Amino acid sequence: MSKDVVILTGAGQIGMAIARRVGFGKKIVVGDKSMKNAKTITGIMNDAGFDTVPVEMDLSSRESILNLIHRAQEYGEIAMLINAAGVSPSQAPIESILKVDLYGTAVLLEEVGKVIRAGEPA
Ligand SMILES: NC(=O)c1ccc[n+]([C@@H]2O[C@H](COP(=O)([O-])OP(=O)(O)OC[C@H]3O[C@@H](n4cnc5c(N)ncnc54)[C@H](O)[C@@H]3O)[C@@H](O)[C@H]2O)c1
Repeated sequence: MSKDVVILTGAGQIGMAIARRVGFGKKIVVGDKSMKNAKTITGIMNDAGFDTVPVEMDLSSRESILNLIHRAQEYGEIAMLINAAGVSPSQAPIESILKVDLYGTAVLLEEVGKVIRAGEPA
């Protein structure tokens, strides 16, 4: 049976906190560059009764974003997007920050915006 799908990018504590707040009863597709981080979060959430799946993805790549969207659509209609992937100045040089946080976020919003269900906010 298909479910409403939440795409979460970024398997950190902030992303998980938001997904726990809005994602119960939905399929939560967790994309992260680090499969280890994605699996850690999906393990915690599945143990707590959520329905999540990890996917390796790179927010700085349009191809990778499109792959994440296609994977998410296998489970149902995309109803929500949580973008919590990113790097800060203590983690990466400015070039990476611009590529991930600025370019990647813009592409993610552009591509998910084409397919997300229109409707009321959560
Ligand atoms: N924690 C804070 O106080 C705080 C404050 C302001 C902004 N932020 C930002 O909010 C976001 C989430 O915060 P957090 O504390 O959960 O961060 P976090 O570092 O714990 O998690 C971020 C996740 O993003 C992933 N990631 C990094 N680059 C990626 C890429 N190119 N593609 C896909 N995934 C990638 C990392 O692997 C990591 O799992 C981060 O961008 C962070 O910089 C955090």
